[in-house]
Amino acid sequence: MTERREVMHRQSTRPATRRRYLMCRPRYFTVAYSINPWMHPDDPAARVDGERALAQWETLRQTYVDLGHEVHLIDPVPGLPDMVFAANGAVVVDGQAFGPRFRHVQRLPEAVHYLAWFKTHGTTVGVRDTYVPLSVAEGEGDFLTMPDLILAGTGFRTEPGAHRELAEFTGRPVVSLDLVDPRLYHLDTALAVLDEETIAYYPPAFSPESQDRLREMYPHAILADEADAMVLGLNAVSDGRHVVLPVQATSLARQVAERGFEPVTVDVSELRKSGGGPKCCTLEIRPAREREEERR
Ligand code: ARG
Repeated sequence: MTERREVMHRQSTRPATRRRYLMCRPRYFTVAYSINPWMHPDDPAARVDGERALAQWETLRQTYVDLGHEVHLIDPVPGLPDMVFAANGAVVVDGQAFGPRFRHVQRLPEAVHYLAWFKTHGTTVGVRDTYVPLSVAEGEGDFLTMPDLILAGTGFRTEPGAHRELAEFTGRPVVSLDLVDPRLYHLDTALAVLDEETIAYYPPAFSPESQDRLREMYPHAILADEADAMVLGLNAVSDGRHVVLPVQATSLARQVAERGFEPVTVDVSELRKSGGGPKCCTLEIRPAREREEERR
């Protein structure tokens, strides 16, 4: 009986919606310091191949373009090797950009560049307002948007104070989740939003209370296994139908396909040396609702 219900739960075609992304070419990308357990600047075996990183990133960008999405670019800045991880540059909801305040001194200067980009290009991309948080906040790394609420991570980077600031700034409920595994230090390494009601996550990345909360809120969620979590498989980008995820996350790709999504795999192994995947390289710009209507 359960099996039959499972089958009925699947859909063969899910609607994709056109997205607007901001990305940053990894021109100056390298692993020069260590601010998460993935980064080993002194290990020759873990050295970044810059050309390969650029090529992998280019494939990711082209994947979005081929899927029909709009990709905007922010200029990379010399001396800021992690700027490629655009997801940390803001969280943009309803045309309102909630900027970053980075935890580590190495990434602090990125904030100015991301904010300046939104100030300059805001009107073009439907962003009418920017905000600089007082608490540490690492953008979409720790804030994942659902239609009715925002899921927010804390424990390693973003502070709970920023969850409150974001709730106030956007007027949306923000649900705080505690991250407990240092390898999955940003929410977007432990949980992926696939569509308006479907998420995938790796339960052990969360505190027992947060696991209870997620189970209660999303009883039909896809549960990722450890192998997939440890290749940053959950660092995925979905348009509601296509799920762009690391090629190494094989069982997650299968699970996603079983639910009627189309997995689109990419290899960003060079970026993983810094603890990043496809989602980390991708900031979604959600325009103001009125703007969306205007565009139709
Ligand atoms: N090396 C970067 C850091 O530790 C990686 C950021 C990954 N970004 C993300 N959205 N998870 O800050």
